Amino acid sequence: MCGIIGILGKHEVAPLLVESLKRLEYRGYDSAGIATVNAGQLDRRRAVGKLVNLSDLLVHQPLAGRAGIGHTRWATHGAATTGNAHPHRSGPVAVVHNGIIENFRDLRAELAEAGITPETETDSETVALLTRMFMERGMGPHNAAVAALHKLEGAFALLWLFEGQDDLMIAARKGSPLAIGHGMGEMFVGSDAIALSPFTDRITYLAEGDYAFVTRAGVEIFDADGVQASRETTRIDLSATQVEKGGYKHFMAKEIAEQPVVLGDALRHYLKADHINLPEELDFSNIERLTLVACGTAFYACSVAKYWFESLAGLPCEIDVASEFRYREPPLPKNSFALFVSQSGETADTLAALRYCKGKVAHTVAVVNVPTSSIAREADLALPILAGIEVGVASTKAFSCQLLALAVMALKAGRDRGHLSAAQAAAHMDTLRALPGLMNAALATSDEIARLAAQLAEAQDILFLGRGAMYPLALEGALKLKEISYIHAEGYASGELKHGPIALIDRTVPVIVMAPHDRLFDKTVSNMQEVMARHGKVLLVTDAKGATTAAEGTWAHLRMPEVAEPFAPILYALPAQLLAYHTAIAKGTDVDQPRNLAKSVTVE
Ligand code: F6R
Repeated sequence: MCGIIGILGKHEVAPLLVESLKRLEYRGYDSAGIATVNAGQLDRRRAVGKLVNLSDLLVHQPLAGRAGIGHTRWATHGAATTGNAHPHRSGPVAVVHNGIIENFRDLRAELAEAGITPETETDSETVALLTRMFMERGMGPHNAAVAALHKLEGAFALLWLFEGQDDLMIAARKGSPLAIGHGMGEMFVGSDAIALSPFTDRITYLAEGDYAFVTRAGVEIFDADGVQASRETTRIDLSATQVEKGGYKHFMAKEIAEQPVVLGDALRHYLKADHINLPEELDFSNIERLTLVACGTAFYACSVAKYWFESLAGLPCEIDVASEFRYREPPLPKNSFALFVSQSGETADTLAALRYCKGKVAHTVAVVNVPTSSIAREADLALPILAGIEVGVASTKAFSCQLLALAVMALKAGRDRGHLSAAQAAAHMDTLRALPGLMNAALATSDEIARLAAQLAEAQDILFLGRGAMYPLALEGALKLKEISYIHAEGYASGELKHGPIALIDRTVPVIVMAPHDRLFDKTVSNMQEVMARHGKVLLVTDAKGATTAAEGTWAHLRMPEVAEPFAPILYALPAQLLAYHTAIAKGTDVDQPRNLAKSVTVE
C-alpha cells in the first residue's frame, strides 16, 4: 500500500507528481504529499484525505522545482494526520516510504541516544532521521542513505530527496515493488508502471534488495551486497495502463460492465478450437495435491475452484488465506503444484506464501492480472487472467477472470488425470464459451437490482447463503457488500445456518440466497424456507426454473439466465457485485475508494 513517485524533470514537477499520484491513489488515500528541490531549497506540502485536498493546497501554496518526490498514504503506523503524512523530512533529507519498518522502535531508541527525537508517530520518519544522523556525522547523501538502509528491517520501497541536490534521488526496495522510468534527459521512480506511464514506457524493475542512485543522466543500480548490478529495461504496453472511467460514474460500474468483454478475451486466449492453451509443464496427471493460496476476493476465487478441481479432476485441494498459510508451516508434497492468485500480484502475504513454497513443490504458479508484478516474476509459471487494469478498490472483473483461468485449469486437470472424457471436457468448454452472452443478460438486471438495493441500504445486517460452489460466492457477495456499503454482511453455507446464525434472523435481516436450479437447489430451498418460517426477508437469486419452483413467499427474486453446472458462480458474481454497488450508491458511500481500504496490500 502507499504509492510512490519521484521525478527528475526538465520542467516544473509539482503538477506531474500530482498527476502521477492520481494514478496511484488506488494504493491508499489517507493523505498525500510532495516535496521538491528548488534552487537548492527542499520544501514540501502535505494534506490529509484524498489527493484533491493536496491539489487545493498547492493552488494556494504552490511548490516550484524540477526535482520532486510524492506519496499517497495508506496509514499503518500513526493516524491519518498532516503530521504523519509523507514526505517525511529531517533537516536536508526528505523520504517517502511504502511498507513497514519493523524495527522502528529499536531505531528510535538508538536515535534518542544520539539526541534525535521524532516529530511523527510513523515508522517511516525513522529513515529520514537516520539518514540525517549519518549526514551530520560527515557522510554524503549516497553513503548516508545506504547506511540508513542497512539498519532497516521489514518491507519497504523508499525514495530519498536531498536539499542542495536537484539532480539526485536514491531509491531502494525490499519486499515492496519499485520501478525506474527512463526519459530523455529525465528520470522517474514509481511504485508501478501505472504511475510512470504518463512519462515513459521504458522501465527497469528493481530486484529484491536493490538500491539505486538516480540522476537525469541515468541510474546506477546495486544489489543487496552493494555490488553494481544490471537489470533489464523493458517497454511496457501503455494501452494496458489506461485508467479512464469511459463515461461511467464509477470505475467499479465500468469494471462490472466490462466483464462480458474481458471474459471473452480470456476465453479466446485459453480455449482454442482443439486444445486448452496452458503451458505443457502444467501437467496434472500425477500430481498428488493442489494448494491454492490468496487473500480476500482472490481467496474466494480459490475456494470456488476447489469444488471444480475436486469434482472435475478428482484432485485433492488445499486452500488457505495467505496470511495464515505463510506462518503455519504446512507440509507440502514434492509432487504437488501450488497456485497463488492475486489481481495485483503484489499482495505481501501471497508473495510470502509463494516464497515459502518455492523449491518444496513441483511448480509454483501465479494467476495474476498484472504480468509484470512481483508474484508473476517470482513464480515458476505465470498465467494472466487478462481482466485489464482494475482501478475500483472492490475487485469485480478480476474475480470473474480469476474464476475463468481456474476453471480452464480444472478442465485441463480433468483431462490430464483421465477424470473427464474428451466429450465431457468439450461440453464444459461450451458452457464457459456461453458465459459472456449470459453475463450481458445478467447485467440487464441492474435497474431491478438498484430498486431492491434502495431497501437493502436500510438494513443493519445482511446474510448471503449458498451451497456447493455457490457457498464461496455467498462469502464474496458479503465481502463486496460490506467493503463498499459498510453494512455488516456475512456469507454462510446454507446448511450451516441452523447451527447458529439462524438466531440472527428476524424481519429486519435481508437474506440473499444464491441458488441456480442445480442438483443442490432443493436442499438450498429447504434452508431458505427455514429462514422464511422465521420471517426472514429473502431475496432469491436464481434462474427461471428456480423461480417457478421456489420464488413464492420470498421478498423478491432476481432471474439469472440458465447456466450449466458447475460454472454458475462466474455468472452469479455479477448480481452479487451489482447488489453491493447499488446498495453503496443508495447509501452515498465512496464506491471506488471505500474507507480504510487500498487496492494493493503490500504490507502484512
Ligand atoms: C476485495 C478485494 C480484496 C483483494 C485482496 C487481494 O474486493 O479486492 O479482498 O481481493 O486484497 O488482492 P490481490 O488479488 O491483489 O492479491
